[in-house]
Amino acid sequence: MEKNLKRTTYAGLVNEDYLDQTVVLKGWVQKRRDLGSLIFVDLRDREGIVQLVFSEEFDKDALAVADQLRSEYVIEIQGKVVARAPKEINPDMHTGKVEVRVTGINLLNKSKELPFEIKDGVNASDDLRLKYRYLDLRRPEMQKSLLLRNRIVQSVHSYFDKNGFIDIETPDLTKSTPEGARDYLVPSRIYPGHFYALPQSPQLFKQLLMGSGFDRYYQIARCFRDEDLRGDRQPEFTQIDLETSFLTAEEIQDLTEGLIAKVMKDTLNVDVKLPFERMDWDDSMARFGTDQPDVRFGMELKDLSDIMANTDFKVFSGAVANGGQVKAIAVPGGADKYSRKDIDKYGQYVERFGAKGLAWMKVTDDGFSGPVAKFFKEGDWFAQITEKTGAKSGDLLLFAADSKRVVAQTLGYLRVAIAKEQDMIDQNKWAFLWIVNWPLFDYDVDLERWVPAHHPFTMPAEGDAHYLNDGEDPHKAYAQSYDIILNGLELGGGSIRIHTRELQMKMLKALGFTPERAEKQFGFLLKALDYGFPPHGGLAIGLDRFARLLAKRDNIRDVIAFPKNSKATEPMTEAPSTVADKQLLDLDLLIAKKEDSDADED
Ligand code: AMO
Ligand code: AMP
Repeated sequence: MEKNLKRTTYAGLVNEDYLDQTVVLKGWVQKRRDLGSLIFVDLRDREGIVQLVFSEEFDKDALAVADQLRSEYVIEIQGKVVARAPKEINPDMHTGKVEVRVTGINLLNKSKELPFEIKDGVNASDDLRLKYRYLDLRRPEMQKSLLLRNRIVQSVHSYFDKNGFIDIETPDLTKSTPEGARDYLVPSRIYPGHFYALPQSPQLFKQLLMGSGFDRYYQIARCFRDEDLRGDRQPEFTQIDLETSFLTAEEIQDLTEGLIAKVMKDTLNVDVKLPFERMDWDDSMARFGTDQPDVRFGMELKDLSDIMANTDFKVFSGAVANGGQVKAIAVPGGADKYSRKDIDKYGQYVERFGAKGLAWMKVTDDGFSGPVAKFFKEGDWFAQITEKTGAKSGDLLLFAADSKRVVAQTLGYLRVAIAKEQDMIDQNKWAFLWIVNWPLFDYDVDLERWVPAHHPFTMPAEGDAHYLNDGEDPHKAYAQSYDIILNGLELGGGSIRIHTRELQMKMLKALGFTPERAEKQFGFLLKALDYGFPPHGGLAIGLDRFARLLAKRDNIRDVIAFPKNSKATEPMTEAPSTVADKQLLDLDLLIAKKEDSDADED
């Protein structure tokens, strides 16, 4: 076969439309079946697989080459598209009704034996997949995920362009603002001892662009956060970031809904119903125990505090007397499905949220059963509890009695864990909703101090700014902020921002900043607010999370071409790595070893 003939189509696209045509295809050998005088080869490219047939009858030389082919050899072929015999038809494949009779072939490259097979649902460890990421990315499901991600990005650009948004890049080498997550730092060579930080988000720059009058900004922006990794977090990730001037929170939410609806239509051909439900943060916490509720199923948290104040079961009445709560969830049909051992296991798990136990009762036709049922036999306990919880005979009631926070976390976690375990979640649903009216501050249990629920630039709710005045309790303030949730996961968040120096200073003060520190850290922003800064607000959606949910993958790594593993390393290139002494010298840096300084202290 002549070399470098132009490809006529992708292998995965060859179907009945090509019957009797001569095609030129290029790609990888997925599989070879040798029947002696007849060799079948599955040829794969990014669009899929087509079956090639080699025979002496079609081309003798090609058959000889086919004899040497092994998995992942790279070939180009020429051949004629013919219909498969009826019993050979594979209705599940786009190319399943045809095959290509090969009349010419060039072997373009060979492959060593692979560390794992190129197929979906591969049985290889995550690190092996990442070490050979270029091979992992050959797998059809990975190609599909990245093609989907691309569709999302194209749809986003088109939406913003149509709606008058301007794509403006913001710097990656920027100033460290140690609020929020830990920064990734970049040492300056020119100014020894000085560091840039990689941006955790373009937040302050996009606000400044509003100060510049651009009115509608967007960017598909790379962000960097040195935080503990989980399934939905990467040290570097991508945001669909937007900011607007002169719009209300509702108007920004409407624009975001339009964006999401377009992406859902363009990528999955799904019509989502607008507007999305808006739920107050307080309601979400009360009903679901979380600010990212999965509303695809029920089993909501029910408050029993008022009636439990009077029970002889001291665990419950004591919690209420201490200013806490007693809440329950009713697991439908859970009485038979869960043994005492199962429940104990959950009881142990929720200890991590501070729960001191997990009380339970089974609902039977003859009342409650279980070790604490004895407290609820007399009087109208049964009627009251079943009425408040909606529990029916055969259900299992799980109770948490503790502070509001512990109860919410315990039952919020159990609700989701049990729904997953019992297959109660409709996987075909796209449950979008807004969580609105957040508190301005959140108490960080680990840091033991108040932190912004979103970030320090968030505008207090209408009428709540006075809580930031001296002598008032700032933690009572609510915020003009909103999160967008999809299927129980925070997809994005945003807010109306503070646009006056006076209020911004009060906010920083409430967070414990002295005027000097506020000036040192955020002086550039405060100064900008002095020069006719417009009211403004915006939002950012996590692109990786969005793509992962649309691709129905378990981990955002699966929609990122070259992600980090759970230890923040990159097994293929082995980043992070040590650098040459010369590089350190250029930067005036000396590595202080933690172990050495520990040893000095001994
Ligand atoms: P926030 O910090 O809530 O808001 O981030 C917005 C969205 O970004 C995604 N996200 C992440 N995705 C992957 N890995 C991570 N480590 C990670 N961290 C965040 C989430 C999240 O909802 N500047 C504000 C937005 C604004 O107010 O306009 C911001 O960054 O999906
Ligand atoms: P006790 O009386 O401490 O043995 O507890 C009786 C039952 O109540 C056990 O099932 C405990 O797991 C449960 N329990 C204990 N403390 C709590 C709590 N704070 N909230 C819910 N259940 C609890």
